[in-house]
Amino acid sequence: MSNRVREIKRIGVFTSGGDAPGMNAAIRAVVRTSLYNNKEVTGIYHGYQGMIDNTVFDMKSDSVSSIIQQGGTILKTARCMEFKTVEGRAKAYENLKNAGIDALVAIGGDGTFTGAELFSREHDIPVMCIPGTIDNDLNGTDLTIGYDTANNTVIEAIDKIRDTAASHNRIFFVEVMGRDSGCIALNAGIAGGAEAILLPEKDTAIDELIELLSDAAGRNKSSMIVIIAEGDKNGGASNVAKRVNEKFDNFDIKVSILGHLQRGGSPSSADRVLATRMGYTAVNELLKGNTRSTIGIRGSEIVTTPLEEALSKKEIKLNEDLVEIAKIMTI
Ligand code: F6P
Repeated sequence: MSNRVREIKRIGVFTSGGDAPGMNAAIRAVVRTSLYNNKEVTGIYHGYQGMIDNTVFDMKSDSVSSIIQQGGTILKTARCMEFKTVEGRAKAYENLKNAGIDALVAIGGDGTFTGAELFSREHDIPVMCIPGTIDNDLNGTDLTIGYDTANNTVIEAIDKIRDTAASHNRIFFVEVMGRDSGCIALNAGIAGGAEAILLPEKDTAIDELIELLSDAAGRNKSSMIVIIAEGDKNGGASNVAKRVNEKFDNFDIKVSILGHLQRGGSPSSADRVLATRMGYTAVNELLKGNTRSTIGIRGSEIVTTPLEEALSKKEIKLNEDLVEIAKIMTI
């Protein structure tokens, strides 16, 4: 270790933004890797809000017993407006200093990363970020914690909806989460065999959708599933269904909005392992003197990317091959 690496004695860990299945597995890995390296750990409740309110507690190995299989986050989460102010961040830093916290692991999405980058620069506290969001919309990683579980939840729902759609010869418009990201819609649409998928990143004209559905009807499809990401520019599943029905009424049409159930549930095996690897790496990177970076996975390798770089690319990556494959699979 170089002399320039500041010794870390106590690591603070928190979750922020929307919860995602697998966050608990990441917290567990952060706590146990820290303890293994003889570092102390403080859990911070409610993300950045908890830093300001000073809702912190000492974490031991048994603080994270039996949580790997639980959805949500035992540290709770919040979106905090006060942390966006200089005064709020100064108060947070004062509380962290008083609690003896000299490094941070932040688990969350884009907003969490932005806050961590700014805070660390402003107050010279090392920070590592772990991508936790079902949306899979972060740069610096192929996958975010929670995405795999959410996809499995959505596919299970689509399969069930298909049973009833087929029994009644109906078209179902199923809305899935993704305010800015079509990842869940695209992935679950392919895995669930959807007849059409509407994504925030792509414009789909209603007439184009009607043509697609009527072509499918012409090929004797008696029931269909259309997956719509909540951020699709046509304004959500109810709107799309209404507009389609105005011009294409040969089918009984139903709408199903899956909503927040997509964020809950026990994490998949893949998410548990990903979260554990990321939590372990976040602590080791801090101890090596790395800071202001995000952990990611590229292929099967765990990697780090400077936060500044990850945050500088605003566009959300969508796998164009999958978009093409999805189209071909509907013929
Ligand atoms: O977790 C990400 C996300 O699911 C987005 O796709 C969605 O728009 C948002 O969270 C909604 O979160 P909330 O209801 O907590 O504001």
